[in-house]
Amino acid sequence: MNLFITLEGPEGSGKSTQAPRLAEYLRQKGWQVLLTREPGGTFIGDQIRRVLHDLGNTSMHPRTELLLYSASRAQIVNEVIRGHLASGGTVVCDRYADSSLAYQGYGQGLPLEDLQAITEFATGGLKPDLTLLLDLPVAIGLARRRGTNEWNRLDAYQIEFHERVRAGYAQMVMAEPKRWVVVDASLEAEAVWQQMRERLEVWLTSR
Ligand code: TYD
Repeated sequence: MNLFITLEGPEGSGKSTQAPRLAEYLRQKGWQVLLTREPGGTFIGDQIRRVLHDLGNTSMHPRTELLLYSASRAQIVNEVIRGHLASGGTVVCDRYADSSLAYQGYGQGLPLEDLQAITEFATGGLKPDLTLLLDLPVAIGLARRRGTNEWNRLDAYQIEFHERVRAGYAQMVMAEPKRWVVVDASLEAEAVWQQMRERLEVWLTSR
């Protein structure tokens, strides 16, 4: 099967737990599945990832951030994703261009039209066939990240930013309902996976 599937979601949504399960499930169907992630997934992209995640780079401008994510994306699309799809395989990617729209667009407030143009350039217009959104309330996700339930200690800006990210995803789902499948990621991991699997099967049979 020849599909490009991406996983999206706010912080603490459990994508990194579910992505390998999804890849394994699809492999059991006999599909040639490549699992990868953004930012990173290539030698060059992993170096860009380190710059993005370096805690010393707190003064990074959102435009710089967007261009770095996009640079990493251009590399993985051209070095890895296109080739695998061309050989008839399926690609599962943990985050893709919708993360830039959600975080740098809806979250940081960069103009969405500019983001779309830069994404088009970086990816050569390659869009996912299916995007699974692991959705959950911001407070729950952030608490998971911190390994504590004391989410009320997080500063208000942080919470508002992630609320905008989540709302941004909701807008994207409304704009392209056929591409997106939404899963309730506030459940425990096994239940999230059950739901993912069921909804994926419905999507596959209805396409
Ligand atoms: P990562 O460690 O991969 O975490 P997660 O498990 O949440 O995916 O970090 C990715 C971070 O980068 C995450 O906070 C979202 C952010 N991001 C953007 O802001 N824009 C993007 O285009 C991408 C791909 C990620």
